Parts: sequence; C-alpha cells; structure tokens
Amino acid sequence: MALADPGLGPRLAGRAAIVTGAARGQGEAIARLFVQHGAGVVMGDILDEELHRAAQSIGAGAVPVHLDVTDETAWAGAVARCESEFGGVDVLVNNAGVVAVGTVAQTPLVEYRRVVEVNQVGCFLGMKAVVAAMRRRGGGSIVNTSSVAGLQGGAGVIAYTASKWAVRGMTRAAAVELGGDGIRVNSIHPGIIDTPMINGPEFASVDRSAHVASLPAGRIGQPGDVAWMALFLASTESSYCTGSEFVVDGGSTCGARR
Ligand SMILES: NC(=O)c1ccc[n+]([C@@H]2O[C@H](COP(=O)([O-])OP(=O)(O)OC[C@H]3O[C@@H](n4cnc5c(N)ncnc54)[C@H](O)[C@@H]3O)[C@@H](O)[C@H]2O)c1
Repeated sequence: MALADPGLGPRLAGRAAIVTGAARGQGEAIARLFVQHGAGVVMGDILDEELHRAAQSIGAGAVPVHLDVTDETAWAGAVARCESEFGGVDVLVNNAGVVAVGTVAQTPLVEYRRVVEVNQVGCFLGMKAVVAAMRRRGGGSIVNTSSVAGLQGGAGVIAYTASKWAVRGMTRAAAVELGGDGIRVNSIHPGIIDTPMINGPEFASVDRSAHVASLPAGRIGQPGDVAWMALFLASTESSYCTGSEFVVDGGSTCGARR
C-alpha cells in the first residue's frame, strides 16, 4: 500500500495550540515553529514581560496569556482564550518547568514540593484542562516535556528526577485513557539544551564542556532541536504514535564518546 505523501507545506495549518513556559527557551522556540507552520498559539507563562516580547516578535498567530500552570482556574482561562481566538484546542505542549539542585539528603521538603507542583501537577492540570475541548474537536495531541532525567537516575537532582519520571508515567496513563477520543499523548525527553534553565545560578559551578564533548552528537542541543520534535508530535505525521517517549539528547542516553 502506498503511503500518503504529507507534502512539505505547513504542518499545522488551521490548528490551535497551547504552549506553556513559552516566554523563553524551548517553549518560545516551539511556539515560533508552530506559528511558522500555520498554527494559532496561546503562549502561557508567568514571566509577563518576556512573554509579551516573545509573542510580539513571533507576530500574528501568537497570543500571550498569563498562565501559572499550577493554577487550575488559570488553565480554564487559557483554554477559553484558545477557543475564542482560534476556534478550539488541537494541541497542548506542557513545556513549563523548573529545576532544583539537591540530593535526597539535602533537599528541603518545600523545595521538593515546589518542583513537583510545577513539573508534575502542572502537567496533570494541563492535560485535565484540555480534554473536553479536544473532545469537542474530535481529537488532539498532547506533548508532555519530560527529560533524560525521566529515563534514568542522576545524582543531585532528586526532585526534578521524580517529577520527570511522573510526567513519563502520566503520559502513558493518559494515552491509554484518551486513545478512544482520538487524543494522542506523548513525551519528549531532551538532553542538555542551551536555554536559560541550564545557564541559571543552580549550575554556575558546573563545567559542562567535558559532558558536551562526550556526547555522540558532539554539541549542546538548541531549543529548535526540541521544537522540531514537538512539531512532529503535534502534526498528523505522528498519527500512529501515542504513549511513547521521544528522546532528543544528542545520544547522551546511548553512551559517551570517550
Ligand atoms: N534545558 C535543558 O537542558 C532541559 C533538559 C531536559 C528537559 N528540559 C525541560 O524542558 C522544559 C523547558 O525548559 P527550558 O530549558 O526551556 O527552561 P527555561 O527555564 O528557559 O524555560 C522554562 C519556562 O517555564 C516557565 N515557568 C516556570 N514555572 C512556571 C509556571 N508555574 N507556570 C508557567 N510557566 C512557568 C518559566 O518562566 C520559563 O519561561 C522544562 O520542562 C524543562 O524541565 C530542559
């Protein structure tokens, strides 16, 4: 049987998406690429100034909305805005996230809960918020951002690791629950990507040059590397993919060059 040629035109023409954590980093890159491919995008974040600047630079098709992903009421507002601006919700990218450095023995409970609240509870609330809207459209695609930290264990990031494994588990559970509604749910697992997150004070003392040199890809990842994967998962080109894990890590989980 011949495969249908999807063509090389815009992958998301006429589609409506919500991207969280879209003020900068990977979220901004995803929103930009989605708009370039014809989508209308509600960009959610808590960094209002950066968010508005990012949306303005993307231009028509990008709508900035203040969205704290831990706030269920704010989620309802974002979904309503996406429906009123773009006629529905076809795609959700749960990208917002925070990192905290600390071992099991050192991490204060309040810090552990803060990371889980944003990365894990925020992802749950996002999925919960869009289900009814996606059912009204007859289906959709949810893309959850985990990490290579959601595939393996690593020292000194206990809260982050726990939250990213939770995202991976929730993705599978939701994929099973929502498959009958035509809603696909997948997770992305980035390795080291050059964004403000890894250039923050938490990692100031870390020399990452040796790690980057050891990667099979031999370079640090860029936000666009993750955006292309998100575009694939948002589009119908991935229509037979659900409940799966998509690794964008320059080969880091595969092994070191030396
Ligand atoms: N950069 C990496 O190396 C890397 C690797 C693996 C996974 N990730 C994951 O990718 C995602 C994007 O990270 P990034 O590297 O672009 O980081 P980033 O810090 O540049 O961007 C994260 C965005 O999330 C927003 N955010 C934080 N808390 C929020 C909240 N409560 N509500 C709404 N928005 C909130 C921030 O304001 C920020 O704009 C995160 O989930 C992160 O854990 C990043």
